[in-house]
Amino acid sequence: MKDIISLAKRRGFIYQGSEIYGGLAGVYDFGPRGVELLNNIKKSWWSANVYQKENYFGLDSGMFKNPRVWEASGHTAGFSDPLAECRSCNARIRVDKELAKINVTADEKMSEQEINRLFDEHRDEIECPSCGKKDFTPVRAFNLLVKTNLGDFTSEGNEPVYLPGEACQGIYLNYKNILDSMNPKIPFGVAQIGKAFRNEISPRNFLFRTREFEQADTQLFIRPNENKDAFEALKQDRWNWFLSLGINEKKLRFTQHENLVFYAKDAWDIEYEFPWGFDEVEGVHDRSDYDLTQHMQFSGVDLRYIDADKGDNFVPWILETSMGLGRVFLAILCDAYHTEEMDGETRAVLKLAPHLAPVKACVSPLLKNKPELQDKARSVYATLKKEFGAVMYDDNGNIGKRYRRQDEIGTPFCIVIDFDTLENDMVTVRDRDTGEQEHVAITELVSYIANKQSQ
Ligand code: GAP
Repeated sequence: MKDIISLAKRRGFIYQGSEIYGGLAGVYDFGPRGVELLNNIKKSWWSANVYQKENYFGLDSGMFKNPRVWEASGHTAGFSDPLAECRSCNARIRVDKELAKINVTADEKMSEQEINRLFDEHRDEIECPSCGKKDFTPVRAFNLLVKTNLGDFTSEGNEPVYLPGEACQGIYLNYKNILDSMNPKIPFGVAQIGKAFRNEISPRNFLFRTREFEQADTQLFIRPNENKDAFEALKQDRWNWFLSLGINEKKLRFTQHENLVFYAKDAWDIEYEFPWGFDEVEGVHDRSDYDLTQHMQFSGVDLRYIDADKGDNFVPWILETSMGLGRVFLAILCDAYHTEEMDGETRAVLKLAPHLAPVKACVSPLLKNKPELQDKARSVYATLKKEFGAVMYDDNGNIGKRYRRQDEIGTPFCIVIDFDTLENDMVTVRDRDTGEQEHVAITELVSYIANKQSQ
């Protein structure tokens, strides 16, 4: 992880948020390379979940929501983690995570009293991760919602407006709008990428557990009790998408939840084997009719679906896929990162799938001080840039150094213009993963790169 975090910062992928002020725990910024990789992940996800599917609709809902939304969703009452504080150094621990380290499972549904009893049974075995002492306060439920002071809160009784604890609520709030404006036939899906904020007790593992993150969610609205086959199909569909990112299949697995969160009937995680072990990247949840029933009760608006073909009406059940974009970004970086010997040197290389790579190609003249090579290289660069956007021009240092720089950011193709190019209009294309070189006609270059990206 240390090497990956260092490369991510050094090569413009990820920066600590507010770094010049000493940072802010659990917040990161995406740099110039990072935002390209992030956008490419989003593009691939959007294409798979909106364009390649029938009856799926895109959405982008506002972040601020009426405070009643979070009451209806169950977040103000039930969205909490068990927290205890070290009496010696004031460090905060997540009690369920510390218990898990000694193989004791704390059920998500335990009351404050029950988890205190469990914690008391094991207090002697749990050390403070900061100072090593074993003197903790009692456990209390710590709500993860982040409050804002939007609006006027001077008068008593005003409910706070929260930042979204999960992005998907915007989909439930717009379910009726989509019914009325798009007239979908059930089953139909809604896909959205949106921010979520959680007051995590202990943000950790770089992008893995942060306080601000983005979720890519789909919600599939189905007829009641028609969940079993659709749920299996959804799991398979998501598995295939992860494989399409070029991630090593052996590093992926599905795990079923033993303890279900308050809204779920069944829940599976897609996990990736990070350097610290397998951990969750995406959740696939069977939410039954929980969400729409709650919003129907709290808002008083009828959210039933009227099926004119079958002549009945019902509150749809919902199957959800919810992926943290920071986590999939990190999984992709971990999976792509390799160090190996090439041409007698050790190189760090990101073996990113071409469609994800932040830079699609780098164009170089063989020599910097030859204007005729520069002119030709600039003209090839301009053509590729117009087509692909994320293309670089590099004439610094020797060719070997230029390759190493591009390897580190995962550029799949380095294109060199040499004296032969001036004669025959052919360039040398060097493949990032094999180091092999191919001669390609300039007129074929755009389709050559485009083909590799779609493979
Ligand atoms: N709408 C369902 C939902 O929010 P979740 O399991 O709490 O379910 C879904 O979150 C995904 O969001 C997780 O699989 C994970 O990838 C991501 N996620 C959750 N908490 C996160 C955090 N603190 N930092 C980064 N990603 C997080």
